[in-house]
Amino acid sequence: MSNGKLPVRDVFSSKFGVIAAAAGSAVGLGNIWKFPYITGVYGGAAFLFVYLGFIALIGLPIMLSELTIGRKSKRNVFGAFKFLAPGSAWKLVGVLGVSAAAMILAFYGVVAGWSIDYVAKAVSGGFGTKSPAEMESMFFRFIESPVSPILYQLFFMVMTMGIVFVGVKDGIEKYAKFLMPLLVLIIIVLDIRAVTLKGAMEGLRFLFNPDFSKLTGDGILSALGHAFFSLSLGMGTLVTYGSYVDDKNNLPLTALQVTLADTAIAILAGIAIFPAVFAFGIEPSSGPGLVFITLPNVFQQMPGGYFFSILFFLLLTVAALTSSISILEVVVAYFQEELNLKRHVSTIVAGVLIAIVGVFCSLSMGVLKEFTLFNLNLFDLLDWISANLLLPLGGLFIALFVGWFLGRKRVEEELAKGAGVIPWLLSVFIFLVKFIAPGAIAIVFLHGLGVFNFG
Ligand code: TRP
Repeated sequence: MSNGKLPVRDVFSSKFGVIAAAAGSAVGLGNIWKFPYITGVYGGAAFLFVYLGFIALIGLPIMLSELTIGRKSKRNVFGAFKFLAPGSAWKLVGVLGVSAAAMILAFYGVVAGWSIDYVAKAVSGGFGTKSPAEMESMFFRFIESPVSPILYQLFFMVMTMGIVFVGVKDGIEKYAKFLMPLLVLIIIVLDIRAVTLKGAMEGLRFLFNPDFSKLTGDGILSALGHAFFSLSLGMGTLVTYGSYVDDKNNLPLTALQVTLADTAIAILAGIAIFPAVFAFGIEPSSGPGLVFITLPNVFQQMPGGYFFSILFFLLLTVAALTSSISILEVVVAYFQEELNLKRHVSTIVAGVLIAIVGVFCSLSMGVLKEFTLFNLNLFDLLDWISANLLLPLGGLFIALFVGWFLGRKRVEEELAKGAGVIPWLLSVFIFLVKFIAPGAIAIVFLHGLGVFNFG
């Protein structure tokens, strides 16, 4: 394969392997935990439609941009900018990415830990015949307790480090290939049960029938932030993965497939959750516990629910794992290549530091609840800053880099390796990354932060 004069690098072994790994990174807690919860907080369908608009106009072109930068440079995110724009400040985009990665993984590990605990609860029959209210108090009692969620979080971080330790590619490519489709299958089964519950219609209306008067600046900014979060964009994850893609791969097609898969899974998760939320009288805006409170009620009400509940939370944990390794990898690659640490030292240093911050995130749900900044506890603060500020900012620079710095000619050269370039599509892509994506991000930022108001 085409490694040229560069040191030998891993290359994904098949087209499907590339898609599975990138989709494995994209599909995770973002789709199944965060998407339904923030859609509920920001009022439902209107938020969904804005989110979909951002995915198409900003997410897809930036995903293609990251893959292009990665494959063109065949380097990690720092190396990539250093190589393509030597002696410039562009590599600072990498610093932004590493900071975002560390913040995201800190709280991501906490939520993944909740998922592991729910595997244990499912196995021991812990959902039993609990009412929605009891399900809720069980959830809060658990996440607020000072010990067990931390043990699960640390357990998850050790697994993440273990996989990154032995090298990302082998692990992800092998497992993501069949576990992700299995997860989709289970969600579809849940969908069928959810939409046949009594009162399901109201949930579908909430999810698909928009009331744009409910949108706030903060909601629009969160839709943008979540488009980045869900597609794993804005911090170099897909630059890194792009560097493992061989030249025959059709990058635009890959970007399109990953984007469609990620978006479809989020919507399928929404269809499993909102009908049930309304059927069981749960508050749609109840926050980060939404999935954990709602779905156990659905499992109770379906044949084979015991079995499905175990499998669901297991696969959710696996989905979180294929994402968390892609996050940790960004930090590890930085430590390894910029600070000249050995791979296993980098993994331990990065993993342990992030896990420690994660412990405080977990405690901020309970005993450290009172410590807030801008009215947010540490968990919410890291989530908000990384998703709503750092990722879109990283994406802004990535779009500008591809649109203005690389430019049409060099982009065409790279894309033409794996596919016939269709001139008008290339023009659309360049137009989007040159003007639309940066402009939209800038406007949403200023508006969301209250710098100005559309009125
Ligand atoms: N996209 C993943 C999810 O939806 C999380 C994730 C993995 C991520 N890699 C990322 C988010 C890079 C932002 C940037 O769960």
